[in-house]
Amino acid sequence: MAQAQLLFPQDFLWGTATAAFQVEGNNTNSDWWAWEQQDGRILHNQKSGLASNWWANAEQDLDIAAEMGTNAHRLSLEWSRIEPEPSVFDDAALGRYREILQAMHDRGIEPMVTLHHFSNPLWLVEKGDFGSGVVVDYFRRYTAKVVDVLGDLIPKWITINEPMVYVFMRYLSGAFPVGKHRGWAGALRAIPNLLRCHAAAYHTIKEKLPEAQVGVAKNMAVLQARPGSSALSRWWAGQISWLFNQMWLDSMQNGRLYFPVGRRTIPHLAGSYDFIGLNYYTRFYVNFPPVGGLLSDKWEPDAVVSDGNYGEIYPVGLYKIIESLLPYKKPIYITENGVPDKDDQLRPSFLMTHLREIWRAISFCYPVMGYYHWSLVDNFEWDRGWTQRFGLIELNPETQERTWRESGRLYADICHSRSLTSRQAEKYAPELLQTIFRGESPIAEPL
Ligand code: FCB
Repeated sequence: MAQAQLLFPQDFLWGTATAAFQVEGNNTNSDWWAWEQQDGRILHNQKSGLASNWWANAEQDLDIAAEMGTNAHRLSLEWSRIEPEPSVFDDAALGRYREILQAMHDRGIEPMVTLHHFSNPLWLVEKGDFGSGVVVDYFRRYTAKVVDVLGDLIPKWITINEPMVYVFMRYLSGAFPVGKHRGWAGALRAIPNLLRCHAAAYHTIKEKLPEAQVGVAKNMAVLQARPGSSALSRWWAGQISWLFNQMWLDSMQNGRLYFPVGRRTIPHLAGSYDFIGLNYYTRFYVNFPPVGGLLSDKWEPDAVVSDGNYGEIYPVGLYKIIESLLPYKKPIYITENGVPDKDDQLRPSFLMTHLREIWRAISFCYPVMGYYHWSLVDNFEWDRGWTQRFGLIELNPETQERTWRESGRLYADICHSRSLTSRQAEKYAPELLQTIFRGESPIAEPL
């Protein structure tokens, strides 16, 4: 039978993504480490411990990433290692990051570095962190240090990971380490401060490294009313979707805060991004009236849901969100996309169906430049501990033993061939032969 091949552009970046606290291990100066020590904070009171042991040996996973055929990796820096006390920078920690970044370059893997990925130095929390205006100067100084010491090795930067998720989880849901400021009052202080930190970091990087590409990693989800809902519910879903998905980007684009988070101009914010990093995982239904939470975790009967009720698998949503980003006229990188699936039952098809949506977007000349799968290796999933496994490579955290999942082998085939092929589907996800390669294209409805 004839083989089909969906080819990607030659210069497309094939990557994986991780975050410092989740993979490095022993991040004892971080608020997450302190949080973990408290009873009941992490599911089953699990501890990050050595995590994926990257501080000692990131290189072993970078070898795997190279073998997989990836040419890009997104990682984050742990601020609490680099600046363990206010204005005291740790040269040894910076030296280790240089080694890790150099190890990527040596393997043909281009680094994309996130400056803030959910974790904070404990001293910053004492000062009120993002609930207090002092954070902006500290973040600027931390960024300047990183640029001076590591900048020559970092072509692509993310200032802040998933700011709206961070605000929600830290200030409103209490699932992330709680600081001095909390609740809506804390959230409404944090949003403008996070935007100011972003603008400060953007300009600090660009002044010293004009060629660097700087963006934000924005989690975006399809947020919609259930089919058949009232006009009021659809209106409400639109409001929530704008708040979660668009507001941050509109603020970076126009330099303004919008109602309901305030109404004012933030200096130097307008236009402060070179690309959009899109973290895409799932679709949620929005409840109205919002009893029992803003978002529903009750799926439609035919929905495919991943481990731990993490979310519905909804590949077409990725296409729809990419389309919704076109008005910003910026390059788009898929900076995270993945699924918790310990037994690897869902991931092969998840990979192919989501990449197929990206291929479709590229076929319409939408500017999607790269894909960073979350994640390379199993790692410590925040308040879910070790219960959710996102790795293409399976990790036994006790023995630190690594085992390739079938999806890891599939991703290797995709990266090496720079394409999705019907042969891959035959081998790893035969159910897709009818839908991806021979069936009808699902046509995305507008958001
Ligand atoms: C994202 C986070 C990342 C990881 C994945 C599963 O929201 O940025 O650290 O937790 O979800």
